[in-house]
Amino acid sequence: MQEKPIAFFDSGAGGLTVLALAARMLPAENFLYFGDTANAPYGSKDKEEVRALSLQAAELLVEKGCKALVVACNTATSAAVDLLREKFTLPVIGMEPAIKPALAEGGKVLVMATPLTLREKKFRQLYNRYATATDEVTLLPCPGLVELIEQGIISGPALENVLTKLFSEVNTKEITTVVLGCTHYLFIKATLQKMLPGVKFIDGNLGTVRQLQRVLTAKKLSRSGHKSGGQVEILASGGEASLDLLKKLYAIASAQWEGEV
Ligand code: DGL
Repeated sequence: MQEKPIAFFDSGAGGLTVLALAARMLPAENFLYFGDTANAPYGSKDKEEVRALSLQAAELLVEKGCKALVVACNTATSAAVDLLREKFTLPVIGMEPAIKPALAEGGKVLVMATPLTLREKKFRQLYNRYATATDEVTLLPCPGLVELIEQGIISGPALENVLTKLFSEVNTKEITTVVLGCTHYLFIKATLQKMLPGVKFIDGNLGTVRQLQRVLTAKKLSRSGHKSGGQVEILASGGEASLDLLKKLYAIASAQWEGEV
């Protein structure tokens, strides 16, 4: 079992930012990734549809063979992680917006995530667990961002226009911390940093990979002792062009983590 890869899925490219970090932190492991590019974005669909798509993605990966499944998508986690844990016996690791560390920073927090993530019960529960009445938190659903990133647009005027429009709903001058509550948004962190100078950005990637590490150790599933891991197989449901784009974005995501961990 230890020899099997760790599988990841997302609606498209976002989960590659988690995969790239995991490949860096777990060099003895091999990886399998599925981007459901034919059905991206998940964040503007309804819950039932995302549950069905998540189940389909997980079935594909489990059939191919894997020892653990990372739902590298906040949206799919909020809609379907309970269902996946019910259906499969392998460990399922989910993701959620990193509200807890953001609140620990103090100041004014902006949570950027997909519309579905922010309206789901799972997010409400997370929010109620950590936020107190005195915390200043603004929730910003960001329709339109994933669509651009899925076309490989991760900088430039088209992206900045969409962000300007989204930020027009918020007093950005007061924001001190931004939660990147969607794995896709890590690809546009440089643009966000440019548009919101001096703001701290927090994502859930490191916490997720650490949780993966803990689960593999606890279940004795680690491929430790081997030195020749690092194989990464990427699959996409949307055809050749989307697979090529995922591979290109994977290289960008891998480079982004260099020097960070
Ligand atoms: N990358 C996903 C997330 O973390 C969702 C993107 C989408 O809307 O498909 O929420």
